[in-house]
Amino acid sequence: MHSLSQNFWTIYGLRNNPYDTNALALYTDALLPISKAYVGRGYESKEFQLFTNILRSPGGARIVVEGEIGVGKTTFVNYHRYLWEKESKDRLFTHCGEISFSVQWDRQSFLVNVLSYLTTKLYLLYGNILPVNNSLFQELLLLNKVFVEENTQWQLTLGCIGGGISKEKQISIPMVPEAKLYHYFRECILTILKLGYAGIILHFDNLELLQKNIEACQKTFDEIRDILQLPNIYSIFVGKTGFFNHIISPLERVRSIFFGWPIFLKPLSQEDVLKAIHIRYELLASQNMRYIKPIEDEVVLYLYNLYEGKIRFIMDAIYAMITYFPTTFPQTLGLMKAKELLKTMLSEKLQNLLSSRELEILMQMAKMKEFSNAELTKKLGLQRQNTAKYMKKFMELGYIHPINQISKKSIYRVSEDVYFLYSIQESSNFSIVLSPSENFVFLSKRQSKALKTFRIGSSITTRDYAEKCQISPSSALRDLKNLEEKGYLQRYGIKKNTYFLVLKKA
Ligand SMILES: Nc1ncnc2c1ncn2[C@@H]1O[C@H](COP(=O)(O)OP(=O)(O)O)[C@@H](O)[C@H]1O
Ligand SMILES: [Mg+2]
Repeated sequence: MHSLSQNFWTIYGLRNNPYDTNALALYTDALLPISKAYVGRGYESKEFQLFTNILRSPGGARIVVEGEIGVGKTTFVNYHRYLWEKESKDRLFTHCGEISFSVQWDRQSFLVNVLSYLTTKLYLLYGNILPVNNSLFQELLLLNKVFVEENTQWQLTLGCIGGGISKEKQISIPMVPEAKLYHYFRECILTILKLGYAGIILHFDNLELLQKNIEACQKTFDEIRDILQLPNIYSIFVGKTGFFNHIISPLERVRSIFFGWPIFLKPLSQEDVLKAIHIRYELLASQNMRYIKPIEDEVVLYLYNLYEGKIRFIMDAIYAMITYFPTTFPQTLGLMKAKELLKTMLSEKLQNLLSSRELEILMQMAKMKEFSNAELTKKLGLQRQNTAKYMKKFMELGYIHPINQISKKSIYRVSEDVYFLYSIQESSNFSIVLSPSENFVFLSKRQSKALKTFRIGSSITTRDYAEKCQISPSSALRDLKNLEEKGYLQRYGIKKNTYFLVLKKA
């Protein structure tokens, strides 16, 4: 495989990776500044107008921005933050990066985190000396232990302040009473207003992750409700589709302080995705030079359909293909080759992570595309708990995801990658499952020998099995569970009174 060297992109005449899926930088001197690389959802679009009007209303606001993962939500909010910080008449102050919202937050940790972000930005703008209220600033710096060193990216520094931002590095926060923190926060707002800003935008991201933990999330919102209401604060919460309805709406007290409905972002159009990628080529082209497209536009459009317009997935897939594609001279990757590569890459990845049995089950799921737990159990003829086990693993790996997380009867869907492999498998004689039938019924010698000695319809215990095979109870249990999964046995009873009913012979 081609190893990526630092100047890998230079063979195409590009200064950097055009398919980078990090959010666009708010800084104008970045290689991909948001001011230039942002496409679509401009002045003329509904979502732009709505968002702008909300930020225009003086006094502050609370808004939810929603959409599927990878459609460009974070970038949308960043773009507005950029406009309000740099291009508007009434400027709104904003922190660097996005604040990761945590369900573990109470009022105190919420305040500490927000203060950390604001203080860091103030520090970056003014260094150690702030034109106003210097003593407050010094206290805040001390409180947050912000030691921004020269040449250190502030993002890295952020990771170690305001406990809870990063898991790896936790610096204990000096115990400051909540009332004092609240006071600091209000003073901090005043300080920022005195610097000539009309307000402050707080951008909370990653709320996607919280949707799994609705109650904790709601508790946090309930606690911080009055802080969010402080004047001149514009708090933006970015989450997955349904966030507003499932988390905010049910809380009367919280909903009343939010703008009445979420701003929903659809995927960008095909033209916009292509344009975004073309602009990146232009911006990254070495000065006064042409560039070679690493990939045909046709491939981008193919991926657009595959990933239902989600630009992040489209660019991630291109990046993976280009870096996988062994080349020492620049070639533009065409559609045929791209499909082939995608197939190889995805199936290799799946085969590394899953057993043949798991792959086979995953392909069955792909065949159904959307399914409920019960439908799947019926279709696969598995035990309910076994279905649950597979689903848990696939969900962790991102191969399936719930479409409707809230209602009791969840409907799940396979990821685009899995569906792609399934369709390729259907349309050609390629098979991702290596030796399904063999693996499917494969029993160890011990298992088949033992199974032969039990009558169909009889019940056996772990001890029976252990004695028969002269093995330890734990090995016996492992064998039995495996036989159950393969449909030879059915388990009933609990703990010490667990029995296995023999369903068929080997
Ligand atoms: N309007 C846009 N113009 C240009 N690039 C975009 C736009 N929206 C998203 N992107 C790019 O797509 C990638 C994913 O966007 P992101 O905002 O992180 O999506 P989300 O927050 O919805 O998961 C990022 O690399 C981002 O730069
Ligand atoms: Mg995002």
